[in-house]
Amino acid sequence: MNLILLGAPGAGKGTQAEILCERLNIPTISTGNMIREALKSGTEMGLKAKAFIEAGQLVPDEVVIGIVDERLRQDDCKNGFILDGFPRTIPQAEALDRMGVTIDRVVDINVPDEVIARRVSGRRVCLDCGNTYHIETKKPHVDGVCDRCGSTLVQRKDDQPETVQERLSVYHAQTEPLRDYYAAAGKLLVMDGQMDIQEIAEKTLEQLKA
Ligand code: AP5
Ligand code: MG
Repeated sequence: MNLILLGAPGAGKGTQAEILCERLNIPTISTGNMIREALKSGTEMGLKAKAFIEAGQLVPDEVVIGIVDERLRQDDCKNGFILDGFPRTIPQAEALDRMGVTIDRVVDINVPDEVIARRVSGRRVCLDCGNTYHIETKKPHVDGVCDRCGSTLVQRKDDQPETVQERLSVYHAQTEPLRDYYAAAGKLLVMDGQMDIQEIAEKTLEQLKA
């Protein structure tokens, strides 16, 4: 099963990817996590991406297309994958079509803008493994510590309110048109992102079987 998770910043793509990849036993490819990883290790790509991420802008298409293309060629993607945060523009979707992979379904996680601000302000992430938490809706077992790897949880720099507003307007202008792109291809599955985290995952899995 080759899946795409679509949705606004903070809609819950990463959260759902974490559940779905375990249940479907396929890897998640998160461009956001890959870019943050590159930034942390100070690679050339990471340095190039830094200013874009911190301003709430998208990293140029050619950069992300390159990293996804390379990642999809790895063996663990042969039985399927979940794309979290890619594609985010029409040119990225067109490039994905040219990579020779068939996308089965595109899950659009729908959350209104006013709910997003609350979600991201309470989000905490693990800088080491990328796992995501929320101070109210998805608490770690021990405050400030990642359940999975024991590292310290932090707030993402781009989760400051002004940057979130910019990310939302970039989303509406550049990413939202992908809904029509995939609806036209008969692949879009729309999910109410305001349901409980587990309920969204169960409903998605049900729909994927249908
Ligand atoms: P990226 O890391 O992909 O950020 P994003 O799309 O802005 O999405 P987020 O990770 O903020 O949100 P999410 O949907 O994963 O939500 P989460 O599950 O964490 O990208 C970061 C940057 O990298 C971009 O701005 C761009 O610069 C660059 N980039 C990445 N990909 C790119 C691309 N393809 N092209 C160009 N540039 C790219 O959930 C949010 C919070 O809500 C969490 O705290 C969670 O616990 C909570 N939550 C989740 N679901 C629920 C629920 N149902 N109910 C209540 N709380 C919930
Ligand atoms: Mg994410």
